[in-house]
Parts: sequence; structure tokens; C-alpha cells
Amino acid sequence: MANLLSKFEDRIPIGPIKEAALHKQVPIHKHSIWYYMGGISLFFFLVQGVTGVLLLFHYQPGVETAHASVLRIMTNVDFGWLIRSIHSWAANLMVATIFIHMFSAYFMRAYRAPRDFTWYSGLALLGLTLTFGFTGYLLPWDDMAYFATKIGVDITADTPIVGKELAYILRGGEDLGGLTIQRFFAMHVVILPAIFSMLLGLHLLLVQIHGNKVPDSIEERKAYRKIPFFPNFLYADLFVWLIAFNVLSILAAVYPWPLGPEADTLAPAPKGIHPEWYYMAQFYVLKLISEPIAMAFFGLSGLLWAAVPIWDPTTASGRRARLATYVGIATLLGFIALTLIAYATLDAGP
Ligand code: HEM
Repeated sequence: MANLLSKFEDRIPIGPIKEAALHKQVPIHKHSIWYYMGGISLFFFLVQGVTGVLLLFHYQPGVETAHASVLRIMTNVDFGWLIRSIHSWAANLMVATIFIHMFSAYFMRAYRAPRDFTWYSGLALLGLTLTFGFTGYLLPWDDMAYFATKIGVDITADTPIVGKELAYILRGGEDLGGLTIQRFFAMHVVILPAIFSMLLGLHLLLVQIHGNKVPDSIEERKAYRKIPFFPNFLYADLFVWLIAFNVLSILAAVYPWPLGPEADTLAPAPKGIHPEWYYMAQFYVLKLISEPIAMAFFGLSGLLWAAVPIWDPTTASGRRARLATYVGIATLLGFIALTLIAYATLDAGP
């Protein structure tokens, strides 16, 4: 075995990677549980890759074929319903864990230099994940998918300057149709995975280089110890992945992901059309206030959020640090409250 390994290392020298992994230490303290969140997001992404490829073997994009092929996957393909259910559940759990991961990195102030590029690359991963969700939602071409995407693309069209062109490119014309499915499909299975994988590589490399951030209050008191990443923390990571896998399997098997009736593009939009839960807060704000003001609000608050390494750059806990904490709490509570109100008022109409 040792001989085989050394032959392998002659061809592909993995020494430096092994060295880095062996030297990485993970701080252990009362907030260490948040260090698992990035890993769980990674786990769900891997699940998406595997189940997505299996779905690709049967899914057929196109106005005539999309819905029928998903129906066939659910009724005629062995375990097709389970694979589709896992893919849909894991997508939602991935978004949820990425949000938790982002907020925990934020509250630990892991966005500060030298981890600011880890923060920016993470934000790009979040943007890509939300786009994965948006493009995937349309693919089954059922009622909800069609009308929710129509609303989403119409909102895109109102973005200043580039909106109209962008919406035209997304739709492949003036209306949602075969070309829209084709383009969303291309983004979902080729463009997004390619960009995502490269960015994820960068993100993980930066985490490897800079190590995990210890929250300031714990760092000051030196109230932590360190354990080796390999194998100690990796085993703990894998154990958490096992729990995530169990939760995912139970949800997917007990609550199979539903499929609505095929989209009728000539019928009026049925009541209660809504996007996925992670777009509900924005969806509600757009109902409340006029679109240009809502767009300006999203743009500015997004910019403020992304730029936190610039406006709270120091390690000292001063006025800006406190402001960052208040901004974080307000954003988190605001997002949860708006999402809940959006669901509660769903059928009330605009
Ligand atoms: C699929 C998306 C993502 C994956 C797979 C991922 C993966 C990871 C992993 C495995 C770690 C190391 C363990 C940990 O601290 O949790 C990490 C750290 C980090 N991630 Fe992400 N991440 C993703 C998205 C994001 C997002 C959306 C942000 C924030 C905008 C972000 C910001 C960070 C930061 C700042 C760190 C360093 C944390 C520290 O030093 O303690 N990541 N990420």
C-alpha cells in the first residue's frame, strides 16, 4: 500500500496540500458550532451535483417536454421521485445553511481583513446560489414556476439602465417560452456550476490559508484551545454531514416535493402565486412600495451589507463595531419578519 501511495505521489505530488491540511488548526470555544455551517453548505452543494446529474439523464427542456419529463421522473423512473425530492429539499436547505453561515461569519466579524476576500467570495457564492434557485424553479414548467418566474423576470426588466435588455436575454424574446426554459436550463446546469465551482475553490483556499476567526471577546480572554483539522475536526465535520444527510433523507421521503399542473400560458395567473421562501421578503417589499424605490432600497442595503469590511475594518471593538452588530440584528430580524408577513398576507393580493 505504502509503495502504491509513493508511486502515486511521484506522479501527482500532493505533499504541499497534505502539509497544509495537517497543519491547519481549528479553534474550539463556545461558538465553535458555527464553524460547521460552511461545511454543511458544502455538503448540500455536493448533493445537488450528484442528484442534478441523475435528473439530467431524464429531464427534457422544452415547452412540450419539460413538465411531461418531470412527471415521468416522478412516476415511471425507479426512485425518480426520491431523487427529485432530495434535489429540491437540498436546494432549500443549502440556501438556509448559507444564510446561517453568512450571519454567523458576520457576527463573528470574520469579514475583517485578512478575511475580507473570503467574505466577498462568499457573497458571490450566495448570489450564485440564489440564481441557481431562480433558474431551477422554472424547469418543471408547472403553474407556480411559470407565473412566479414571469413576475421575477418582469421585476428584472424594471432594473434601471440594463433591466429591459437583461429581461429580453433571459426570456429569449418578449415572452416566457421554449427559449426561456432552454436558457434557464443552460444557466442551471452549465454556466452556474462552472462559475460556482471556481469561486468555491477560491473560498475554501482562503479559509485554508487564514484559518477560522475567533470572536474578539474570546480572543481577548484567550478562552479557547485548538485541535488539528486533520483528522479531528474533519471527523466531526463528517459526523455533522451524516446528521444533515439524515434530516435531508427524512424530509425528502416523508414530504415528497410536489409538482403542480402544467403551466397554461394563456390562463390568468392563479391566486397565491409566490416565489421560493428566500425571495418572499423582497416580493413583499415590492408589493408595499413602488418599484423604483424598492429597487433603490435593495441596491443600497445590499451594497452596505457587502461593504461591511470597508466600514467596519478594525479589530478594536468601538462605535463602528457596535453599529455593525445593530445592522446585523436589524437585517436578520427584518428579513425574518418580512418573510413571515409575506406568507401571512399571501392570498390578500397586492
Ligand atoms: C455554498 C456556499 C458556501 C460554502 C460551501 C462555504 C464554505 C465555507 C467553509 C467550509 C468555511 C470554513 C468553515 C466555516 O467557517 O464555516 C467557510 C468559511 C467562511 N465563509 Fe463560507 N461558504 C459559502 C458561502 C459563504 C457566504 C454566503 C459567506 C458570506 C457572505 C461566506 C463567508 C465566509 C467567511 C467570512 C468564512 C471565514 C469564517 C471564519 O474565519 O471563521 N461563505 N465557508
